[in-house]
Amino acid sequence: MRTIVITGGTDGMGAALARHFLAAGDRVVVLGRSRAKFDTLLAGVARESPSAPSRAEFIATDLSLVQDSRRAIDQLRREHGRVDALILAASFIRQRRHVTSEGHEASWSLFFLSKYLFVTGLADLLRTADRPIVVNTAVPGARADAIDFDDLEMVGGFTFTRSNAQQRRANELLGILATGQNPALGYITWGPARLVRTGFAGEVGIGMKLAAALLAPLLGQRAEKAVRPIIDLVDAPTPGRAAYRGAKPRPLTASVQDGQDAARLATAVTASL
Ligand SMILES: NC(=O)c1ccc[n+]([C@@H]2O[C@H](COP(=O)([O-])OP(=O)(O)OC[C@H]3O[C@@H](n4cnc5c(N)ncnc54)[C@H](OP(=O)(O)O)[C@@H]3O)[C@@H](O)[C@H]2O)c1
Repeated sequence: MRTIVITGGTDGMGAALARHFLAAGDRVVVLGRSRAKFDTLLAGVARESPSAPSRAEFIATDLSLVQDSRRAIDQLRREHGRVDALILAASFIRQRRHVTSEGHEASWSLFFLSKYLFVTGLADLLRTADRPIVVNTAVPGARADAIDFDDLEMVGGFTFTRSNAQQRRANELLGILATGQNPALGYITWGPARLVRTGFAGEVGIGMKLAAALLAPLLGQRAEKAVRPIIDLVDAPTPGRAAYRGAKPRPLTASVQDGQDAARLATAVTASL
């Protein structure tokens, strides 16, 4: 039986994936803040797949906090000997800079530091799988110069656009680090082909709220449909890095500069944790 770990698995696309893999007979570990959402999800799946509750696990955690991420990783390491697929889908959109109780910029912490900790902290459990895969729902294609190495937490000049581009680029570089250490690992940076009708959890201004409320029902895809390409990737993993929008592959660069930036990022992040 595969073990599939899904951060942000209580809602949106993460929940659609959790429902699918539980119905398919996998062991699924869901991470999120809301046990109530997990209970609702599980009750729904259990109606069709009575054995799902025995294969489902919930870890309540706030992944914008480094200590919570570390605790969740320790729990996974204690309770599981192998992880076949790690799907990183936790999301909380903040348009303004916000500092966590630990002193980290919240979006950087949730969208990158936590993912860095999961990918590195579960590396040996992934190595134990025959064909391990990480699917990181960070939309690929950010500019190569999107990272401000001198101010990763954007104390100066924070904008939503800059913060979003930086974490996306950092998550691509994380793939270089992860596959460099484990060539058998598949590491995918993935974004949906178009808007997906999800919770869009976050603290955003009226403009973004209105856009989500008006556009998502009109133009948005259902989460179940949007995640179909992720399911296909997890079911047939291939080693190495790749990037997708929906089911469509996107080009990836692997220049000397990318390798140097990945190493620089790892050094800076390790020092900040
Ligand atoms: N929807 C789109 O159109 C779209 C477009 C581009 C990219 N994406 C990307 O796709 C991924 C999934 O997005 P989505 O729209 O499906 O998200 P969503 O519906 O807003 O769900 C977010 C998930 O993250 C969890 N979460 C939020 N803050 C958390 C925290 N601090 N600690 C732990 N878990 C937390 C939520 O669970 P709890 O409430 O239980 O904490 C929930 O399960 C994200 O990476 C997003 O950037 C989405």
